[in-house]
Amino acid sequence: EKGGYEHFMLKEIYEQPRSIRDSMRGRLRPNSDQVELGGIRDYIKKFVNAKRIIILGCGTSWHAGLVGEYLFEDIARIPVEVEYASEFRYRNPVIYEDDVVIAISQSGETADTLAAIELAKSKGATIIGICNVIGSSIPRATHAGSYTHAGPEIGVASTKAFTAQVTVLTLMALHVAHQKGSITNQRLHRLLIELDSIPDKVQKVLDQNEKIKYIAEIYKDVHNALYLGRGYNFPVALEGALKLKEISYIHAEGYPAAEMKHGPIALIDEEMPCFVIAPRAGAYDKIVSNIQEVKARKGKIIAIVTEGEKLIKEMADHTIEIPDTEECLMPLISVIPLQLLSYHIAVMRGCNVDQPRNLAKSVTVE
Ligand code: F6R
Repeated sequence: EKGGYEHFMLKEIYEQPRSIRDSMRGRLRPNSDQVELGGIRDYIKKFVNAKRIIILGCGTSWHAGLVGEYLFEDIARIPVEVEYASEFRYRNPVIYEDDVVIAISQSGETADTLAAIELAKSKGATIIGICNVIGSSIPRATHAGSYTHAGPEIGVASTKAFTAQVTVLTLMALHVAHQKGSITNQRLHRLLIELDSIPDKVQKVLDQNEKIKYIAEIYKDVHNALYLGRGYNFPVALEGALKLKEISYIHAEGYPAAEMKHGPIALIDEEMPCFVIAPRAGAYDKIVSNIQEVKARKGKIIAIVTEGEKLIKEMADHTIEIPDTEECLMPLISVIPLQLLSYHIAVMRGCNVDQPRNLAKSVTVE
């Protein structure tokens, strides 16, 4: 059932062009400039009138939620708070009846997320689910929602579920923005066409697997790693670090690149690899300065850059090139090399990639 792959995780990483496409199927209509999300049709007014969106999740689903925050604020102009479900449920949060709560969960069974939903629901908020397992507990507890169509995810480390969640959040933000009138027709058109091309671009990153494996070999024995990104790629830095910790047991931290000088820069020496997500789209000049700061302290830079990049290639120890896209769609592409890097490093270290120690696929206890 691993389809010829050595591990489920690798199979699931490689499935992403398809799982992203499946999560868009019937929903993305680039030719008519439309997004159709049947599951939330009856609740679109709630979205349009919402003064605030609260996104709930845990782990990787929380990281997808952070990308959702940037999307909804940037495109739909709605303020967003992203909350760890476990913190939200225990801290007497302020919840209004016109809040829209988006709960994200691959398994649909995460105990903290479910409890946070029940709390928000009891205060009268509208609850929208983004889940992968059809008929699981969370979709049953929500008012409405849109499934991710990633297919079964067996590897404990979440990969294709993350990109499917980000895909659905993107469609949702675009749909709401369109209904609200907060996006111009030209921008909507451009983003839909670009979104449609993402599966092929993801494939182009997968095609660089050999190069990524070569880089993994060089860094497989490190004890620590930093992941840096800005804007839309900050959540990707967190996700890259989580992937490395959970399957290879290497200590890793993700940071917004500009925060480095407020503390983590003290850790940098010639032993410390920094994985920097540095595509052209976004705060390019700023991230170039962050790379210089690391190099000045002899840190190692492995940079994820846009195809054809020159400047960062001269500064970095290694680069991985990814196709260009709109800034707000970049997480769907930039996370792929980080998934592959963690996978290869874990395999090289002899770790049980599909079933890392101490972890379960769904966390049904708090
Ligand atoms: C990370 C991972 C976990 C889950 C988290 C939430 O690779 O798998 O961090 O993302 O336990 O699980 P779901 O999405 O099922 O609610």
